[in-house]
Amino acid sequence: MGILFQGGTIITATETVQADLLVEGETIALIGQNLNSEGHETVDCTGKYLMPGGIDVHTHLDLPFGATSSNDDFDIGHMAAAFGGTTTHIDFATQRHGETLAQGLEKWWRKSEGIAQIDYSFHMQMTDPRDDVLDEIPSLLDEGITTLKLFLAYKTMYQISDGEFFRVMQRAAEHGMMVMVHAENGDIEDILRPTLIAQGKTEPYWHAHSRPPEIEGEATNRAIMMAALSGCPLYVVHMTCQQSVEALRRGRTQGYPVMGETCTQYFFLTAEHLGLPDFEGAKYVCSPPLRTEDDQETLWQAIQDGTLQVVSTDHCDFWFEGGRGPWQAWAQSHPKGDWAAYERQNPNYRRPGKELGRHRFDKIPNGLPGIEDRMLVMWEAGVNGKRISPMKFVELHCTNPAKIFGMYPRKGTLMPGADADILVWDPEAEHVRSAATHHMRCDYNVYEGMRCRGKPVQVYLRGRKIVDGDRWLGENGYGQFIKRQPNAPIL
Ligand code: URP
Ligand code: ZN
Ligand code: ZN
Repeated sequence: MGILFQGGTIITATETVQADLLVEGETIALIGQNLNSEGHETVDCTGKYLMPGGIDVHTHLDLPFGATSSNDDFDIGHMAAAFGGTTTHIDFATQRHGETLAQGLEKWWRKSEGIAQIDYSFHMQMTDPRDDVLDEIPSLLDEGITTLKLFLAYKTMYQISDGEFFRVMQRAAEHGMMVMVHAENGDIEDILRPTLIAQGKTEPYWHAHSRPPEIEGEATNRAIMMAALSGCPLYVVHMTCQQSVEALRRGRTQGYPVMGETCTQYFFLTAEHLGLPDFEGAKYVCSPPLRTEDDQETLWQAIQDGTLQVVSTDHCDFWFEGGRGPWQAWAQSHPKGDWAAYERQNPNYRRPGKELGRHRFDKIPNGLPGIEDRMLVMWEAGVNGKRISPMKFVELHCTNPAKIFGMYPRKGTLMPGADADILVWDPEAEHVRSAATHHMRCDYNVYEGMRCRGKPVQVYLRGRKIVDGDRWLGENGYGQFIKRQPNAPIL
């Protein structure tokens, strides 16, 4: 017996068609008009859209950051993602200095195995590209990991030199892998930030001044030139401003193998949020920082004309009011990786959060919540706001992520043989984004009060219903690690 979705409108990146869709087991068996329902469970989709499950290719679940770690993990973070229509995500497994890639990866297996509720994969975040580590790169392909993430920022934590960057690109190119880059000039940031602090400019507002758009534009252009020289495909993460988008547009015009994403928050929030009184600005501290309304227009234009291929979240949430309960004593005796489980069992306790930087913006953990909001607010502003079509919405949030990251056509579209990751989307369902009702483990929502129309009322992952209205039907351990294919296309 299968599941027959009847009477809906199927939206893919290339088509909008009225058709029935039959799921058998974990995959889509058939799409056609007036399919025979005999022997099948039926789902009435009249007035609804059927879209592929969303793919968020940029998340940081349970990420150690300074004196704390990000709140959402592979349990609650997965549930929150699915309520917002995301059924697959790619997180960043981090190699610390002195570690091998395998050791870095091992920590992320421990965070996810047996816990995951939606499907997932990892990018390998390399911070110490020693010779023995470069030799380890091909072994990642055996694990289905095809992407290496490098930093030109965070000088004392993650940043690598240009020479190291180029060498990794050469190796990656040999194996059909892609390099991703956090592009901000960390050397310059490392001068601007302490200067501001020494001048007593310590409020969250100054975060944006420590990381101006020029350092993003410069580093983006530098990475693009290294892609041109090495031939290695490059994907620039969380692009925010005209300076970097122009560099990418130029590189693509030259025919270089370069692509880029932006993240939801950069369409909606500006640096003015950092200046909110009563330390509220700390809620909006992320890197690269929020920019201007003009930059927002640049981003809308860039997703419309294909300069940017993907909208992701960079989801990395921290408590606004964290550090509750006798944290210090407990945390000293437990590694950060254990904190999420501990918090679940002790709801009155909270790990440290944004308050860490109450007296200095550079101590505020960087990142925002968003894994649940992405498709909801982009549908509202993008599709209802007539900036993008429903098909473009699917392209940016589902299909392009699957293609660029080696999961297509298993993921990212609705076609026979694909995984039955299906959103039953009600375009008339009205809702308001709020920390009071969201599922992310975070005490604020950056879209608080935003009225939206359109959301997934049912979510299926590989043929199994995991969201039904407000009910969560998912299960720990159902989420599968997705092995990805190298030599993915440059879009
Ligand atoms: O502020 C951010 N983006 N935090 C997460 C880490 C990163 O740089 O992506
Ligand atoms: Zn980053
Ligand atoms: Zn990130």
